[in-house]
Parts: sequence; structure tokens; C-alpha cells
Amino acid sequence: MKGIILAGGTGSRLYPLTVAVNKQLLPVYDKPMIYYPLSILMLAGIREILVITNPEEQYLYKRLLGDGSQWGLSIRYASQEAPNGLAEAFIIGEDFIDGDSVCLILGDNIYHGHQLSELLRRSASLESGAVVFGYRVNNPERYGVVSFNDTGEPVSIEEKPEHPGSSYAVTGIYFYDSKVVSYAKSIKPSARNELEITDINNIYLRNGELKVEILSRGVAWLDMGTPELLLEASLYIMTLEKRLNCQICSPDEIAYVKHYIDADQLRRIAAEYGNSDYGRYLTELAGSRK
Ligand code: DAU
Repeated sequence: MKGIILAGGTGSRLYPLTVAVNKQLLPVYDKPMIYYPLSILMLAGIREILVITNPEEQYLYKRLLGDGSQWGLSIRYASQEAPNGLAEAFIIGEDFIDGDSVCLILGDNIYHGHQLSELLRRSASLESGAVVFGYRVNNPERYGVVSFNDTGEPVSIEEKPEHPGSSYAVTGIYFYDSKVVSYAKSIKPSARNELEITDINNIYLRNGELKVEILSRGVAWLDMGTPELLLEASLYIMTLEKRLNCQICSPDEIAYVKHYIDADQLRRIAAEYGNSDYGRYLTELAGSRK
């Protein structure tokens, strides 16, 4: 399975924070935002990744993530000329996807919690159809919302409904088989002039090929569309990292733990980060398993 991180958009709800810096480069406590969705793809076992950005800011992402080889990954880049909607990712990424299955993750989503890696790996092993995650929220009208029948089967998904049919948001990670590319080409822009991921999910749903995995209470899902949510995410990560004395969503650590890189490679990365807490953490990690 291939992976796509969608990291374009204007971030207008975060203005003036995002006037000069693209949203997915903003700090979430001690790391750039995009490290978190990148880590989630890595935990799913995905190593071939396309990062879709605005054309103007792509050089910054390249500076940050490079070609991915430092983490045993292959990272490529593509541009989205304008925020035409999430589903455009599959049209932009058609050559990259090249008939494979694909996982799309939004650049402003964080996932953390119990047995998440197992769920991610399972979802990434899909052979046909689609898997999305449902998450209980207080404000479903802000999201894609999935409704269920009496036996708990998903029956419809609506984008930002005025009167939500349930409290379950569809979160920003989506696993699809290769049909997603032709589905993306078949849909029309919505009233807000975007190619909606919800329209793609509804095609899979109508075909009886959509699985909705409900994220358990042990998993936290955070998106970072507003200043409050951005601060909350930083505080969440800071609190957990301090209490647990470990890094959350460090691509360097995940690459090492998954044996994509060895201790010497990790030490070299740590040396580049000098005397920062992050660099010290990686140095210790590399030393602890000599
Ligand atoms: O966060 C989950 C929600 O994401 C889902 O529940 C919704 O169904 C889905 O439509 C989407 O909702 P939003 O409309 O809130 O997404 P937003 O416009 O905030 O974009 C999400 C991320 O994707 C953001 O980091 C910017 C990036 N993006 C967005 C668009 C529309 C792009 O890179 N290109 C785009 O064209």
C-alpha cells in the first residue's frame, strides 16, 4: 500500500499564523505538524509516501523531510495548485499510486493511543474496498458524519450536515483499493467547490465495500483547524511526552524501532539535532540497544 499526506490548503482558520508559514509546518509542541501523520503512515507499515503541498511551499517540506531515505522511506512530492478538495489527492497522485492500494492521511490530523498500530497495520492490509475510522465527537456538524442502522451498519455519510444523523465523525485517514482513482475522477465539485472525500466514501458505501472502524476510547484523534485545537494538541503531546518520558510520533524513533535504520544511522540523525531535548532523546535511544 502507498501513502499520501495531503499538506496543502490555505489554513485560513489559523490566520495570521499561516500567512507566511504553511499550516502543516507549524509546531505541535516539539515537532512540526506533518511529523504526526507521517508517523502514522510509518506505523501502518507504509514506506512509499507522496506529500502533496502548495507549489509555493513545497521547498520547505523538501528541506524538512528530504527523500525519506534517512528513515528508510521513499518520499516524493506533488503540487496541488489550489485547495480543490481532499479527493483531488488521488487524481494528482495517480501515477504515484500506479494501480496499488493507497492510504490518504490529512496533514493536520493526529492519532495516538492503545492498539492503534495494530489497527493501522490491519487496515493497510486491505485487498479490496475501503476502511475509514469513526470517532465520537461533540460537534459532528464540523465533519463528515456517518449514520448507522439498527444493526450498526453504516448507511450514509454526510459532509458537515446541519442536522447530523449521529455523533460519529469520519476522521482524516482513509484506506482504499486502487479503484479510488477512477472514483475520484467520476465525482463533481460540491457546493463549496471541492472534490469531497465524502463522495468517494459514499460510492464505496453504496457498493457495500466500506468498512467503518470505530476508534475505541483508548485512542485520541485530534485535528488542528483552529488556534484552540492547535494549542490543545500541543498541550496533549507535551503532557504525555513528559509523563511517559517518551516521544510521540517521532519518525526517527519509529524508523529505528521498525529496523528501517540502525543505531549508527540514528546516532547520526541525533548528532544533527545537537543539544536539543529531541537530539538527546535519540542519542539515548540509540545507546540503549547497542
Ligand atoms: O478532519 C476530518 C475531516 O476532514 C472529515 O471529517 C471531513 O469529512 C473532510 O472533508 C475534512 O474536513 P475539512 O473540510 O475540515 O478539511 P479541511 O478543509 O480542514 O482540510 C483538511 C486538511 O487537508 C488540511 O490540513 C488542509 C488540507 N487540504 C485541504 C483541502 C480542502 C489540502 O491539502 N488540500 C485541499 O484541497
